[in-house]
Amino acid sequence: MRTYLVTGGAGFIGSNYIHYMFKKYDNDIRIINVDKLTYAGNLENLKDIENRDNYTFVRADICDKEAIMKIFEENDIDRVVHFAAESHVDRSIKNPEVFVQTNVLGTAVMLNCAKAAWELPDGTFKEGKKFLHVSTDEVYGSLPDDDSAFFYETTPYDPHSPYSASKASSDFLVKAYMDTYKFPANITNCSNNYGPYQFPEKLIPLIINNALNGKKLPVYGDGKNVRDWLFVEDHAKAIDMVQEQGRLFETYNVGGHNEKQNIEIINIILDTLQEMLPEGDPRKEHINKDLITYVEDRKGHDRRYAIAPDKIKAEIGWYPETMFKEGIKKTIAWFFEHEDWMKNVTSGDYQKYYEDMYKNR
Ligand code: NAD
Ligand code: TYD
Repeated sequence: MRTYLVTGGAGFIGSNYIHYMFKKYDNDIRIINVDKLTYAGNLENLKDIENRDNYTFVRADICDKEAIMKIFEENDIDRVVHFAAESHVDRSIKNPEVFVQTNVLGTAVMLNCAKAAWELPDGTFKEGKKFLHVSTDEVYGSLPDDDSAFFYETTPYDPHSPYSASKASSDFLVKAYMDTYKFPANITNCSNNYGPYQFPEKLIPLIINNALNGKKLPVYGDGKNVRDWLFVEDHAKAIDMVQEQGRLFETYNVGGHNEKQNIEIINIILDTLQEMLPEGDPRKEHINKDLITYVEDRKGHDRRYAIAPDKIKAEIGWYPETMFKEGIKKTIAWFFEHEDWMKNVTSGDYQKYYEDMYKNR
């Protein structure tokens, strides 16, 4: 039975990936999830699988080499899927250091421990071992408004935010391990994800939550920045396909073919909420465009991200399956069914975060 070590599996994409993998492979795989449980990590995301015999949770920091090495020593790990990171651009602008710590040093620890566990005396690696580093399209920088330009795997790195700079650094470390040691790895650079379990600091869940509660919908700058949105289950599938079918040492860009301005996203959410809420629901009264509030722009705000996922389609046959209209409905339906989840994650520290982040906006 193949054993996976997943880092950051209690976060948004990691927990969706773990659900996807158990749905696909059931008892044919074992997953060990190592997560520090920062504000973004939530074991409630994994409630329905936590009692499986083929699932183990280890609370640890990826920067803690002893703790990570112990996992490799006690288990014959076949696959590493490395999600753990600080992931929010606004937080990186306020406090960059923890991004360097987790995203750069933490990745170095993961690489070192996997190398130590998998390397043979002749410097080659045990058969079949693979490391997948999950990264972002933000490492490529920003595209002009002109919608004919795209990010490709060959696009030079040009990160701007502390978040994207730390992810770019971690990508370079993985590339260095592949080039120097022939360490068996892949990198995926994905566009913006949305879907169940996303923490409401990111645009889509924040807008859904604020709209349902009749709170202002903060739009940075002119609202015309463009992101390419991908439904998170499609991302989970891409990661699995790259690890199984991709060529080792290659980078694959993963994108949604779904570029939208932020203001368009907000309008779609408002319309979809109106459509999905039952007649007579009091929230229908306050969900309207009057909630939209233009606020001070994000510092260094990247204008446009867009991926052409041609390589992954040509080589592996992956493409984004979920149309945005369908994905946003699934996402909103999930939030309707998980009101307690939202209440829990927005109580306590979240209130303070929100006040600090939006006080001057
Ligand atoms: P998230 O913030 O929801 O989850 C991150 C998880 O990592 C949390 O469970 C957190 O507890 C854990 N973690 C943080 N620091 C840790 C540490 N030092 N040790 C162990 N665990 C730690 O993030 P996400 O949105 O799920 O993103 C996952 C990965 O995907 C990240 O590497 C991110 O850069 C990348 N990515 C995200 C997106 C997106 O749209 N969210 C797009 C492309 C790539
Ligand atoms: P976000 O979800 O933080 O993802 P990223 O910055 O990694 O792309 O933001 C998506 C876009 O939405 C980005 O252009 C910033 C914008 N945005 C707002 O306009 N208002 C908000 O409250 C947030 C969180 C984001």
